Amino acid sequence: MSVLQTFLLGLPILWLLRRIYLPYLWQDLRFSFQVFRYVRFVERCIKTSRTVLDIFLQQVSTRPDENFILFQDQAYSFKQVDLKSNQLAWTLKNHSKLKQEDCVALFLGNEPAYIWIWLGLYKLGCSMACLNYNIRSKSFLHCFRSSGAKVLIAAPELRSAVEEVLPMLKEENVQVFYVSRESATDGVDSLLDKVEAASDNPVPKSYRSDVTAKSTALYIYTSGTTGLPKAAIVTHSRLLMSSSLSTLAGLNSTDVVYIPLPLYHSAGLMIGVRGCIQKGACCVLRSKFSASQFWDDCRKYNVTVVQYIGEIFRYLCNTPKKDNDKDHRVRLAVGNGIRPDVWKEFVHRFGEIKIFEFYAATEGNAVFFNYTGRVGAMGRSSFLQKIFRPYGIVKYDVEKDELARDASGNCISVKTGETGLLIAKISAMAPFSGYAGDKAQTEKKRLRNVFRNGDLYFNTGDLVMIDKEGFIYFQDRVGDTFRWKGENVATTEVESIVAMSDFVEEANVYGVAVPYHEGRIGMVSVKLKEGKEFDGRKLYSTVADLLPTYARPRFVRIQDEMDVTGTFKQRKVALVKDGFNPLTIKDPLYFLDDSKKTYKPMDIHIYNAIEQKELKL
Ligand SMILES: *[C@@H]1O[C@H](CO)[C@@H](O)[C@H](O)[C@H]1NC(C)=O
Ligand SMILES: *[C@@H]1O[C@H](CO)[C@@H](O)[C@H](O)[C@H]1NC(C)=O
Ligand SMILES: *[C@@H]1O[C@H](CO)[C@@H](O)[C@H](O)[C@H]1NC(C)=O
Repeated sequence: MSVLQTFLLGLPILWLLRRIYLPYLWQDLRFSFQVFRYVRFVERCIKTSRTVLDIFLQQVSTRPDENFILFQDQAYSFKQVDLKSNQLAWTLKNHSKLKQEDCVALFLGNEPAYIWIWLGLYKLGCSMACLNYNIRSKSFLHCFRSSGAKVLIAAPELRSAVEEVLPMLKEENVQVFYVSRESATDGVDSLLDKVEAASDNPVPKSYRSDVTAKSTALYIYTSGTTGLPKAAIVTHSRLLMSSSLSTLAGLNSTDVVYIPLPLYHSAGLMIGVRGCIQKGACCVLRSKFSASQFWDDCRKYNVTVVQYIGEIFRYLCNTPKKDNDKDHRVRLAVGNGIRPDVWKEFVHRFGEIKIFEFYAATEGNAVFFNYTGRVGAMGRSSFLQKIFRPYGIVKYDVEKDELARDASGNCISVKTGETGLLIAKISAMAPFSGYAGDKAQTEKKRLRNVFRNGDLYFNTGDLVMIDKEGFIYFQDRVGDTFRWKGENVATTEVESIVAMSDFVEEANVYGVAVPYHEGRIGMVSVKLKEGKEFDGRKLYSTVADLLPTYARPRFVRIQDEMDVTGTFKQRKVALVKDGFNPLTIKDPLYFLDDSKKTYKPMDIHIYNAIEQKELKL
């Protein structure tokens, strides 16, 4: 046979083999190549000490007058944001004692100031702590302190929350500013008037000369498996890496990206805004997601890319149908947590929008992308990923809430198609920087001696399943957290607050599934103190004062005895299964009623209204 004949015969055989054994080979290779190229880019940046700020400045010189931020009826070009961030840097230089690598905490909603303050801080070599603007008092102080911030910059609308903690901050010599022209609080300075009066000259590089790829760039708060939120350390190299998402999703400089997610989360800031900086694209900020405004906004700003979490698409599908549902330019949606049914309805109703689903934790080192078009999968694991970013899916005992280990103490990999805990090997390429000032929590996320003595893995806390073809499906969170409305809720934090009520002996918080909703809604089982009665009003006022809306337990179950394990851990699995059906649960049940500001007895009418989608949760 001639070479040509072999070749011609070989082709169909190769094609057939590929169809049978490696149907995703080309996509895997192409995608891996893109990842590889991006990693090379990051390595070059690290070598030459370039940070996201340098990439931004590069965009400023390439496209000074193109729009970078759109917000309400305001537009800011790259140049304008650059000048504004210079002014911010000079203001802090002259009105504070900040040094390089000091931290400034931001307590602010989505608005352009968020971005120019962020970039301005990098010009001074400072890092930024992104406080969740829903937190108050005890949680606030915990989050603020764990970042070690020297300065707090807050929205004037959050004045009452600031005043609540101000005496403590002042004791610790923290300087506080409002993003406004004047301040109505003693001890708090105004920022905007000073920024407007400051010079907009470039800030010398020497002001940030100590910053390296390993320096902290951001603190982003995550609700981990226990207790109060934790400040995940995001280094400059991690921040460089984080834009791989927008690169891989195919963003370019003509794109307009709609960001309805809060900037204090990694999705909004590290993927949304950061991705726009990488590509010179424009971002549209919105202070709060609104389902009824979503498409009007997309039309108004000529949006081409939207960021989502699963809940957002569900809300959009729940809005009344309109004739102009398909009248928009959105071509791509980037995010996570979309359910197959919602996905189908979404594209059917709003047109052919490419959905780029990914999986990544703020502090985590495990990343998966859906680049092949499998509905329902959060990503795909190729043979190349297994080589370059090793991970494992190991047996987890949900009942005991701990890892299963074999006789010799090693973790046990689950079989294909079984659910297990996702863990990712910690290495130089996939680092885990830990949590600020919290060695114990950092250590808890590090798993040692997993498959052999001395190896080290990051515990994602997510239960996943992988199918024969290598598609990964999210199943649940483990342990003491659940997700509701896109936020992680730490059960131990909620428990400690419920237990503040004087009639509560013990509280056990968990999340229960409700129809037509992503995630789980909060429920608490309470054991009352002897001789005390349940007081719905009192409990309501405690949780409403101290917890953000998404973390407040919606249902209460009164139990005579708490079910505990042999090691006195509260059992949750059975309670989760029981749910909140008043017909099957004999214990007294209560329901949080925001309009009456109380927990009122749960009855079958409330239950039916929830089942029939008539009651908004
Ligand atoms: C940006 O992406 C869009 C959609 O894929 C494409 O039509 C356009 O030509 C791209 N523009 C540039 C400058 O690459
Ligand atoms: C959106 O596009 C239209 C038509 O190309 C243009 O007239 C309009 O100015 C654009 N709007 C924005 C906010 O860029
Ligand atoms: C996976 O990606 C394909 C192609 O981009 C998309 O059509 C599909 O909706 C995605 N699946 C999910 C669950 O996001």
